[in-house]
Amino acid sequence: MSGTTAPRSADRPARVAVVGTGYVGLTTGACLASLGHRVVCADADAGKVERLRRAEVDILEPGLPELVRDGLGSGRLEFVRDTPAAVREADVVFLCLPTPMGAGGAADLAAVEAVAREIRTELPDGCVVVNKSTVPVGTSERVGALLGRPEVPVVSNPEFLREGHAVHDFLHPDRVVVGGADPEAARRVADLYAPLAAPHVVTDAASAELTKYAANFFLAMKLSFANNLATLCERFGADVADVTAGIGRDPRIGEAFLKPGPGWGGSCLPKDTHALLSVCEAAGIDFPLLRATIETNVEHQRRLVERVVAQCAGPDGTLTGVRLALLGLAFKAGTSDLRDSPALALARQLRERGAELFAYDPALSETRPDLSDLVTLTGDPLEAADGAAACLVLTEWPQFRDLDWPAIAARLDGRVVHDFRNLLDQDRLERAGLVRQSIGSAFTMAG
Ligand code: UDX
Repeated sequence: MSGTTAPRSADRPARVAVVGTGYVGLTTGACLASLGHRVVCADADAGKVERLRRAEVDILEPGLPELVRDGLGSGRLEFVRDTPAAVREADVVFLCLPTPMGAGGAADLAAVEAVAREIRTELPDGCVVVNKSTVPVGTSERVGALLGRPEVPVVSNPEFLREGHAVHDFLHPDRVVVGGADPEAARRVADLYAPLAAPHVVTDAASAELTKYAANFFLAMKLSFANNLATLCERFGADVADVTAGIGRDPRIGEAFLKPGPGWGGSCLPKDTHALLSVCEAAGIDFPLLRATIETNVEHQRRLVERVVAQCAGPDGTLTGVRLALLGLAFKAGTSDLRDSPALALARQLRERGAELFAYDPALSETRPDLSDLVTLTGDPLEAADGAAACLVLTEWPQFRDLDWPAIAARLDGRVVHDFRNLLDQDRLERAGLVRQSIGSAFTMAG
């Protein structure tokens, strides 16, 4: 039943319910409405529903506020608090719920299971329930069992949306993957995407569920590889940018996801690699490559911390009383999301060594009580740099390239800028009297 096929054209717009309006659910709802479907999005958060009804989107996702506004205007998109009411008339119900890292690294399915129980008696006969949340293999079957409605097929339709590019990725997918025990139900869900020119992989539920984990594991593996490669380059006096350009042009390898950095993070890669490891362990399957991918990330960050300690520590070998300027806290540029941010992982370790951290991130306001024990957030990079022994670039915000580096140099106590995103211009920093230390090149002080 599986295979990659060209999409069929949609016969008619579908009535779609989306449960959960996080960046996946809201993007799914707003984009499906823009494709002509009638969409009702449900969220338990009353305040959020009110804001969405006014087209106020509280996540940083280019194009999303406009799509929400257009959807509301056309009448094809609505927001409700009442999940059962949202699903009662639906042809297709998308579950876009959080599946955070639970005990032992396993995905916590409490939200998915609670909603399945809430809607089980409300679903109309013949509708299809779609798991879009990233869930372990077997969850479609489990949701089916919880629903207890044999005439309501459950399929898996994983998303591959990058935060900050979610609308673009939804509307320009590389592929649409749908899997379920009922091939016709899987087809019906794939057909929702018919207006988008992407190949469809229609398969069984386990294959679809595993595809998502396999994709994120592979991406994380590539990044751990790139970060290890950077270490090799430092030791051998090579330049990682040239080496990755040299290998990346081979289409079997590919250029994307080979940029070394302060480790990989975000709301998906850490959670999904740990969840996959946890299901492998539960199934008695040893997957050394997966373990190594995760451990390499931890080790890489430890190494970067040691590099800062080696450069800035006082006579007692610690960073006690040493002030450091952090540029960027978000897990990547274009988002204010701090979930599993590599910047925060480094900040925590530096703090444990005694450092006093002053941070600037263009996406974060100055008031973040949740960060107050870790960093002092400033609204200005110069303020963050004031009296700091070194400056660390932790998020690849492009505007950091064009900061007033001579002014920053004048405020810094030390000379070194640890460019952990390989972002800055070497000559510009040198002209400002600063020493740029990147990752994976001859400019790097190996540590
Ligand atoms: C990821 C997947 O890309 C997406 O397909 C999936 O649906 C969700 O998880 P996202 O979490 O938005 O998306 O972040 P992504 O852009 O993939 O970056 C992940 C991490 O890798 C970030 O910390 C980023 O800074 C880092 N990264 C990425 C690098 O260090 N180097 C790179 O070359 C690319």
